[in-house]
Amino acid sequence: MQINGQTSVVGIIGDPVNHSRSPQMHNAAFNHLNLNMVYVPFHVRQESLGQAIKGMKALGMVGLNVTVPHKIEVMKYLDEISPAAGIIGAVNTIYVHDNRLIGDNTDGHGFVRALAEDEGISITGKNVVILGSGGSARAIGYALLKNGASRLIFCNRTASRAEKMAESFQTPGVFVAGMGIIDSMVEITQSDILINTTSVGMKQDEPLLINPAWIKKGQIVCDIIYSPLQTLLLQEAEKRGARVINGLGMLVHQGALSFEIWTEHSAPVEVMRKVLC
Ligand code: ATR
Repeated sequence: MQINGQTSVVGIIGDPVNHSRSPQMHNAAFNHLNLNMVYVPFHVRQESLGQAIKGMKALGMVGLNVTVPHKIEVMKYLDEISPAAGIIGAVNTIYVHDNRLIGDNTDGHGFVRALAEDEGISITGKNVVILGSGGSARAIGYALLKNGASRLIFCNRTASRAEKMAESFQTPGVFVAGMGIIDSMVEITQSDILINTTSVGMKQDEPLLINPAWIKKGQIVCDIIYSPLQTLLLQEAEKRGARVINGLGMLVHQGALSFEIWTEHSAPVEVMRKVLC
């Protein structure tokens, strides 16, 4: 791709940012569709966040992804927050519309779209258990309820955080609850889908959060971790006959949704996935 006077700029801000796979993924997609756009990583420290966001308009940028640690803090610098980002309480995608900076969040819908499009799994009517009660759990919980989950249980090391999360998601006709991981055996055993949103599994030799004997044949077990691709949880689940899904699909589809917001083109999902493998 040739950068010239008409090239539109998008990117990602984070601290650190050099580990991000998003530049590869988006630039491959721009090249594939012959779009005159470029995706750049920007290392932005907390004290410069406001100036960086202000600079988006001055530079005529199309949008940005936002990663750790700025997803919450960035909200105060934006002109508008989408309903999804408002409920999730975090922004991972900014776009400019009518000279206004709008914050959105594609993480939860990216997860649901990965299940639907890559795996043919619908959330409607499903009994789901989420391990963890942080930002990722909130984004996924929001999208699961939007897509018709019939029962949603948050299980967390710190039970009070899971209970608070569940309270904030009370939805008519849906059973939503929070509890400690220690108390979650029955819920996990009876669930259709189990999702790990914690960082447990990223490091080697880290003990499992749950007893793998709680996982049953035919269950769907997902991990949002994509490095390693096959976490210990997924390995153990597979041994017990569960269907396992790693975090690559969510990574690709949250990016695809941002791409579609910025470009109004369908994202070339397979091109984006291929550069990550
Ligand atoms: P993210 O935005 O990625 O979800 P976060 O908001 O910091 O990150 O949330 C991390 C989640 O992983 C929390 O649910 C955390 O549990 P606590 O609320 O008890 O802290 C969970 N987590 C992280 N490390 C963990 C560990 N070693 N054991 C159990 N849970 C862990």
